[in-house]
Amino acid sequence: MTSSNKHPDAPWRNFYGRIHGKTMNQAQKDYLVEDLDALSPGAVSWDINPTRQPLDMAARFKGKPVWLEIGFGGGEHLVHMGETYPEVEIIGCEPFMNGVAMLLGKIRAMQTQNVAVHPGDVRDVFDVLPDHSISKAFLNYPDPWPKKRHHRRRFVTQDHLAPLFRVLKPGSEFRVATDIPDYVRQTLEEVPKAGFVSTAKGPEDWRTPWSDWTSTRYEQKALREGRTPHYLTFIRP
Ligand SMILES: C[S@@+](CC[C@H](N)C(=O)[O-])C[C@H]1O[C@@H](n2cnc3c(N)ncnc32)[C@H](O)[C@@H]1O
Repeated sequence: MTSSNKHPDAPWRNFYGRIHGKTMNQAQKDYLVEDLDALSPGAVSWDINPTRQPLDMAARFKGKPVWLEIGFGGGEHLVHMGETYPEVEIIGCEPFMNGVAMLLGKIRAMQTQNVAVHPGDVRDVFDVLPDHSISKAFLNYPDPWPKKRHHRRRFVTQDHLAPLFRVLKPGSEFRVATDIPDYVRQTLEEVPKAGFVSTAKGPEDWRTPWSDWTSTRYEQKALREGRTPHYLTFIRP
């Protein structure tokens, strides 16, 4: 269960992943207490925005293009993108608090200025993002849920893809990286059903990382274990 689901008006949303992992060190606990509030993308929490008023994007993000990373893990890709594209603002969402603390450490070390952090479920952010407010979205190594009866828990289902489609600007990119062949299958089936168009002409394209890609912790694990990364790109027409 996500923390926002504690509000009486919040819809029931199952979250099956981990929220807490092994003990954090004192520095990581300090980052959460000291840095997180100032990095919030705005009134996402149900406690402060129970009527789900849309975020004032121009005020919060200074009129700059805003990108979205779903499930940033330890934040390698999020900070890399922030550093590579200072002219853009990037919202990262991640319910796993140890990952959030790792990201905050990286932001401090790099002094990254253009990253906003929602320490929770991206669906709470979808609720309050205006239509066509996001210019690019990243889904890197989503939880694979390998058992067939768990496939409906995967991110690439219409419950997640429909609001993602709504918040993306026409012409914007949605990138999916995964090492799981059956996840590739479901992505290629479900993402176009939500209205997106695949840019790949064939499997060759799926093997080539984006020119601005940086490898993540999960990708490193996949490579160590002999699995092949796939990089899928879709356009929101
Ligand atoms: C397999 S990990 C990959 C992490 C990172 N992207 C990487 O490549 O190393 C998937 C992450 O997605 C997060 N996640 C799962 N469902 C989510 C949701 N609804 N909103 C935001 N993040 C989510 C999980 O907490 C987990 O950290």
